[in-house]
Amino acid sequence: MRILVTGGAGYIGSVMVRMLLSRGHEVLVFDDLSRGHRNALPDTPLDVGNLTSLEDITKTCQSFMPEACMHFAAHSLVDESVRDPLKYIRENPVGSLNLIRALCESGCRNLVFSSTCAVYGIPEKVPITEDEKTTPINPYGVSKLLVENALVELAKRDVLKFVSLRYFNAAGADVENDLGEDHNPETHLIPRVIKAALGIEPEAVIYGDDYPTKDGTCIRDYIHVSDLCEAHILALEHILKGGDSIFLNLGNGNGFSVREVIDAVRRASGVDFPVRVDRRREGDPPILVASAQKTRTVLGWKPILTHIDQIVESAWIWHSRHPHGYGD
Ligand SMILES: NC(=O)c1ccc[n+]([C@@H]2O[C@H](COP(=O)([O-])OP(=O)(O)OC[C@H]3O[C@@H](n4cnc5c(N)ncnc54)[C@H](O)[C@@H]3O)[C@@H](O)[C@H]2O)c1
Repeated sequence: MRILVTGGAGYIGSVMVRMLLSRGHEVLVFDDLSRGHRNALPDTPLDVGNLTSLEDITKTCQSFMPEACMHFAAHSLVDESVRDPLKYIRENPVGSLNLIRALCESGCRNLVFSSTCAVYGIPEKVPITEDEKTTPINPYGVSKLLVENALVELAKRDVLKFVSLRYFNAAGADVENDLGEDHNPETHLIPRVIKAALGIEPEAVIYGDDYPTKDGTCIRDYIHVSDLCEAHILALEHILKGGDSIFLNLGNGNGFSVREVIDAVRRASGVDFPVRVDRRREGDPPILVASAQKTRTVLGWKPILTHIDQIVESAWIWHSRHPHGYGD
């Protein structure tokens, strides 16, 4: 099948591209390389363009004529979204709407969308189910919710079919294909702690150790990037088999605290590194854990690398082999 992958030069997109190629699909990546890496895409066709240009994405769709699209491209830094809300509120939805228009004009109506648990804001109950209210607390979450709302309306009117996957914390590396996480700036906990173990950062930082959790630090749900990409394959099959357009959580169902992640990095690396406790960051809920029961039932998805040691171990292998990321 011809599959367009937007944001395919990024962390998750590049792992997805490898998986699709290994399953025999024809893949074209569309990425502006603003945060992605050409080196993460050996031998994969790449159109360099920006989704906010309708002309760029229309040209790509008209020449490739995709049968399906996996849409990863977005700005996705929560802190940056708070500092520059207009960038997020404008560019994430505009880019997505341009993409949808270009896809539809080329006859493609099958879309898997990368959404986020940030659409829930501070949940009323944990584990979070898909019927939790959606009241995001930052512009990033709002920008994804705007796209989700557009998708609902378009699917209702048979313009397209979609699965919107609300990821919790993607983590780990595709060790076999030598693909891992290289964000700049890096805001995710596991790579930041690993950088402390590698001596690239002076210390690991815990933001708040007075939360109402078992060890006082925040608890998050980490999902291995390979399990996450497997769910995309199943999501696409769901649409192609005539399944309903739907929102699904992608998480592990297990929460791990910041201190547990730090301990896992110590075990994987064998390095003891300094840890500093700082004050809480605004807007960090104490616990964010998914219920992925619906995803398991609807897609038949079974994550494999669910233990924090497996997730951290794969990340450690990649970062220790690539202390400076892709180096491009
Ligand atoms: N990493 C996570 O834990 C996580 C969690 C929830 C949701 N998500 C979502 O998953 C997706 C992928 O995340 P990631 O961590 O791989 O991000 P990433 O930044 O590594 O990858 C995003 C890619 O999209 C490209 N891009 C961004 N804006 C673009 C535009 N306007 N036009 C063309 N290309 C553009 C970037 O160059 C980059 O290669 C994002 O949509 C993100 O919001 C990620």
